[in-house]
Amino acid sequence: MALLGVNIDHVATLRNARGGIVPDPIAAALISEANGADGITAHLREDRRHIKDADMTALKQKIGTRLNMEMANTDEMVSIAISLKPYMVTLVPERRQELTTEGGLDVIGHLKSLQENAKKLQDAGIKVSLFIDADIQQVEASKASGATIIELHTGPYCEAFGSSTQAAKLELLMKAAAHAVDLGIEVNAGHGLNYENVKPILALPGLVELNIGHSIVSEAVFSGLGPAVKRMKELIS
Ligand code: PXP
Repeated sequence: MALLGVNIDHVATLRNARGGIVPDPIAAALISEANGADGITAHLREDRRHIKDADMTALKQKIGTRLNMEMANTDEMVSIAISLKPYMVTLVPERRQELTTEGGLDVIGHLKSLQENAKKLQDAGIKVSLFIDADIQQVEASKASGATIIELHTGPYCEAFGSSTQAAKLELLMKAAAHAVDLGIEVNAGHGLNYENVKPILALPGLVELNIGHSIVSEAVFSGLGPAVKRMKELIS
C-alpha cells in the first residue's frame, strides 16, 4: 500500500497547447483529491513548459492535501519554493531539451550545493526529497545531503517491464529502498508507472508514496480524470 501523489503537469501541457486556460490544472488537482489522491505533484520547470508560477500559487492556496513541488536545484527555484512553502520539494535534474526527467540526480557530484539548498528549504519548514536512481552510493550521498526523503526513479524498471530484465531492475529498486530504510530515509518512487506495472513496486521496503502522472492523465482522456485516479488509488491501496 502506498500514498498516491498525482502529477498534474500534463493537464497543463494540454492547456498550454492552445495558450488558453483549459483544461485547468487546479481543477484537475481538486478532482484528483476528491477521488483519492493523497497529494498533488507539479514540476515548475526552468522553461515553464507546462506548470507556470501562477499554477503553483493557486495549487498551494486551493488544494487540501500535500503539495509536492518538483524542481531543479537552482537558486531561482529554491527562492520560489521558500516563498511558496509547499509541503515538500522533490529536487530533480533538469535539461532543457529533455522530453521528461531522464535520470536521477547525481547527488555525489552535487553534494555541497544539495546540502546547502536542503538546509535552506528545511529551515523554511519544507521537507526535502531527492529523485535518484536505484543506486546504493546515491542513497548514501542522499543521507549525507541532509534530505530525509528519496524518490526512487522507477523509469528503468518500467521500460524493462515484461522483458527479461524486469526482475533485475526491480531488485535494484528493492536494494536501494532497503538501504534507505536502514539509513532512516523515507522512500517514495515514481516515473513511468502505469496500471500494468505498478503492483510489484508496492513491495519496496519503506515505501510511502508513488508519484504518477502521465498514465493517469492519459487514461483520463478515455475514462475521465476521477475514474482514472480512483482506479490507480484502488490498485495501490
Ligand atoms: N517523479 C518525478 C521525479 C518526475 O520527474 C515525474 C515526471 O514528471 C514523475 C514522478 C511522474 O512520472 P510519470 O508522468 O511518468 O508518471
